[in-house]
Amino acid sequence: METKNYILKEVEYSDIKNIHKGLSDPDITKFYDVHFPTLEAVKEQMDWYEELKKNGTGIWWCIYDKVDHQFCGAGGFNSLQQEHQRAEIGFWLLKDFWGKGIMKEIMPRLFEEGFTTLKLNRIEGYVVSSNIKCKNALEKINFCYEGTMREFEIKNGSKISVDIYSLLKSEWK
Ligand SMILES: CC(C)(COP(=O)(O)OP(=O)(O)OC[C@H]1O[C@@H](n2cnc3c(N)ncnc32)[C@H](O)[C@@H]1OP(=O)(O)O)[C@@H](O)C(=O)NCCC(=O)NCCS
Repeated sequence: METKNYILKEVEYSDIKNIHKGLSDPDITKFYDVHFPTLEAVKEQMDWYEELKKNGTGIWWCIYDKVDHQFCGAGGFNSLQQEHQRAEIGFWLLKDFWGKGIMKEIMPRLFEEGFTTLKLNRIEGYVVSSNIKCKNALEKINFCYEGTMREFEIKNGSKISVDIYSLLKSEWK
């Protein structure tokens, strides 16, 4: 699938080097529960993408620039629950591609895929409350802030609050 400036291709095992480029960067994984410093370690993440597809619990895409086919990042759905027609959306970009409006351009295409092909009624996002860049980007695409789960996680001894955002099919388009 594609947008005006980008191509989205389902993540495959052969994308391991690109995924490692992103998920080994501490600035990208700062608000994540995962970080993969080595190629060996990132195999766990590649298995996770495979499991999602095998179990029908999600799907992720790699994002490529249309002009020079450069890998920019990844986005997709996980924790998909068909009976409740809902799934969690996720998204990350390599730092070189921050501040270019890429998330703003691609997320609506992911919404379309979610609400049509995946037959979702609700798309939700869990964002660490201090992840301002992400929250700024979500608000620009009309993702609805539903509330904050205070001190929802403990990470390296720190209590982490997490915000919930969502978009319903009835609000989409
Ligand atoms: C979350 C993340 C993708 C946001 O990236 P981002 O570049 O801030 O968001 P967008 O791609 O929507 O770009 C918006 C920015 O591009 C700028 N911009 C430049 N050209 C633009 C254009 N043509 N259209 C829109 N915005 C444009 C905007 O001004 C805005 O800049 P600002 O953040 O300084 O206000 C990025 O910070 C990231 O990968 N973080 C690590 C992973 C992560 O935390 N993911 C959590 C889930 S969201």
